[in-house]
Amino acid sequence: MHPEFSQRTKDTMDSFIMSLVEVAAQPGMISFATGLPDNSLLPTGPIEDAAKAVLEEGSASTLQYDTPTGYIPLREYIADRCHKELGFDVDYRQVIMTNGSQECFDLLGKLFLDRGDRMIVENPGYLGALQSYSAYGPEFIGVDVGEDGADIGQLESILQKSPKLFYSIPNHQNPSGISYSVDNRKAVAECIGDSGCLLIEDDAYGELGYDGRVGPTMKSMIPDDTVLTGSFSKTISPGMRIGWMVIPEWMSRDAGKGIEASSLQSNTFCQKVVSRFLADNDYDSFLKGLRKSYKIKKEFFMDAMADNVPDVMEWNDPQGGMFVWFRSPEGTDAMKLFDKLIENKLVTMPGRPFHVNGGENTIRLNFATPSEEQIIQGTKILGKVCREMY
Ligand SMILES: Cc1ncc(COP(=O)(O)O)c(C=O)c1O
Repeated sequence: MHPEFSQRTKDTMDSFIMSLVEVAAQPGMISFATGLPDNSLLPTGPIEDAAKAVLEEGSASTLQYDTPTGYIPLREYIADRCHKELGFDVDYRQVIMTNGSQECFDLLGKLFLDRGDRMIVENPGYLGALQSYSAYGPEFIGVDVGEDGADIGQLESILQKSPKLFYSIPNHQNPSGISYSVDNRKAVAECIGDSGCLLIEDDAYGELGYDGRVGPTMKSMIPDDTVLTGSFSKTISPGMRIGWMVIPEWMSRDAGKGIEASSLQSNTFCQKVVSRFLADNDYDSFLKGLRKSYKIKKEFFMDAMADNVPDVMEWNDPQGGMFVWFRSPEGTDAMKLFDKLIENKLVTMPGRPFHVNGGENTIRLNFATPSEEQIIQGTKILGKVCREMY
């Protein structure tokens, strides 16, 4: 006899991604499935130097607790970057450090969602965030995201239903790789501003535009109605778990309380190491190198796709990030393709779980993690199976 699980646990969506990690680890399997950065681009040497310097200089205090909202010099750095790169001014007190940006979604759910509250999500949208929010029992309402960004007509009509939150990823979206156009950002900001709905602007891939940032932040347009979430996971290290949210002033007290209640604070040591890394290295030139490397890798992937995959399939050419959005012919079920690919030793990520509705013929492909050799082999498998099936 065991206690019954809470409603919150029952409501929390399953993660399709985690089950794929096990499949991808099988011997001989090639993976285009997960969203991991390229191992060879993580700055191990400079992080080692920064960690040593932090330990040498700080002695025992380096390993101590810090304030719940995070290490002040790092928050000041992020506030300064908001001013220089993201087009808005913010006091460091409104930058709240978290255990990866994933924790922001859980905190925002906890802060705002009661069971049955309405929440707008992108269709398709990032599954990991949907899983976090799902624990709070919201009714998800999908707004379609296409090549230009969010469907404004749909957004306007959903806003009539008084949703509390809109979770968006305007830059190089996971899963589709799509970015909102500048006009689309302005239109979204116009709809959301003063509507009573809080915009969550996930900027996880914002720094990974191959030719720089692709558009202004919506936070710069409607600062009081937007929480911008950020992360060093896609640039410096996903394992160090350093994310943050930039909140409007009216949220300060309750956001601080929320993080204290859930984890006391995020990892202080890693925050200090990253802060030191940023002080000792030119982050902009580091990012320039990273963007160049991902651009080269993406072009290699696109060439391999063009060489090996038949035209009956469709895919986009992203301008940043790590994902290509792949479509089997309209009316077909990409889940069947996904199964057949696994039989042929290629793991991909079906697009259906990223959708509130539709998406049966979609698949997400990650080109950042596999080596060039694996990209060639993987796209050959993809092409062979597609030719057999379609
Ligand atoms: C769009 C998006 N947002 C947020 C996250 C969470 O990243 P982290 O918690 O490592 O900052 C991810 C992870 O893949 C992501 O793809």
